[in-house]
Amino acid sequence: MPRLYDSRKRILVTGGAGFLGSHLIDRLLKMGHEVLCIDNLFTGTKQNIEHLHAHPRFEFMRHDVTFPLYLEVDEIYNLACPASPIHYQHDPVQTTKTSVHGAINMLGLAKRLKCRILQASTSEVYGDPAVHPQTEEYWGNVNPIGPRSCYDEGKRCAETLFFDYHRQHGLAIKVARIFNTYGPRMHPSDGRVVSNFIVQALKGQPITLYGDGSQTRSFCYVDDLIEGLVLLMSSPDSVTGPINLGNPTEFTMRELADLVLAEAGLSSPVVTLPLPQDDPRQRQPDIKLAAQLLGWVPAMPLREGLRPTIAYFRSQIS
Ligand SMILES: NC(=O)c1ccc[n+]([C@@H]2O[C@H](COP(=O)([O-])OP(=O)(O)OC[C@H]3O[C@@H](n4cnc5c(N)ncnc54)[C@H](O)[C@@H]3O)[C@@H](O)[C@H]2O)c1
Repeated sequence: MPRLYDSRKRILVTGGAGFLGSHLIDRLLKMGHEVLCIDNLFTGTKQNIEHLHAHPRFEFMRHDVTFPLYLEVDEIYNLACPASPIHYQHDPVQTTKTSVHGAINMLGLAKRLKCRILQASTSEVYGDPAVHPQTEEYWGNVNPIGPRSCYDEGKRCAETLFFDYHRQHGLAIKVARIFNTYGPRMHPSDGRVVSNFIVQALKGQPITLYGDGSQTRSFCYVDDLIEGLVLLMSSPDSVTGPINLGNPTEFTMRELADLVLAEAGLSSPVVTLPLPQDDPRQRQPDIKLAAQLLGWVPAMPLREGLRPTIAYFRSQIS
């Protein structure tokens, strides 16, 4: 039931104890909203939200989104899902269940409450893209039976469900396709390239480059990404997405390794390993739609965003 007496919203964030979820919650609380965080703590940690423990407008509930949930909220951000290959391949069946059953449960809740719901989708829906940069019209090039498929196809199916609930039940949906995002509170051991390189550098270990290091990625700082999610949620009902959110500036993995070492003020040798299966060679968002519909463009250059990220990992490691 919508609130009668003020503009403050009660907002549900699934996966709120994770990297992006915890930053989103910080932002929503700053905006004056009440936030209910649900998380099964599979990859998220209480440490990510412990600074909110005594906050009067924050609540945490341990819950697995693959099970139904009945509560009253005004908006839902659905972020629950392990996001890094190491984590989502640990229990691939559970990963697909989290994406698909989780989406069904959260969409069912949104339908009952007639509230807006935003899905944290991913650039992985484009797979190993044959089109560069990726626009939202591109349907992707995804292996349906590989080790990454539990995540890629789970997220694709979740998008299908969001659009079917929109068409069939008139639900107000928002689908964000999130590209590589980095920042404080990333997992130190999630195997993603930014955290990998920083942790290796800080521990004085060799930096491991896959392939020859010429494959490219683009990296969005977490604050920019969160701004995009909040703008998307507050956009008119006609803006459903899918909409790419990411930083289009490309870096080769070798350039990233050099930047990390320079910003950390360290020197480690760089070693090369074989490329993992289905690892995309290039990934770069086309963000014209986000700029046009949301007025969103990422502001933080990689070099500057690496500083607080390295500082965070330094504090974790020490
Ligand atoms: N970080 C990125 O670069 C990126 C890129 C694309 C998409 N995304 C998407 O954004 C969302 C958040 O990603 P993140 O980087 O913060 O990852 P994360 O692993 O830090 O956060 C995911 C959170 O979901 C929780 N979770 C997992 N399964 C759950 C379940 N069944 N029930 C309840 N909670 C569950 C985890 O415990 C964790 O707190 C994910 O849906 C991910 O697919 C992230």
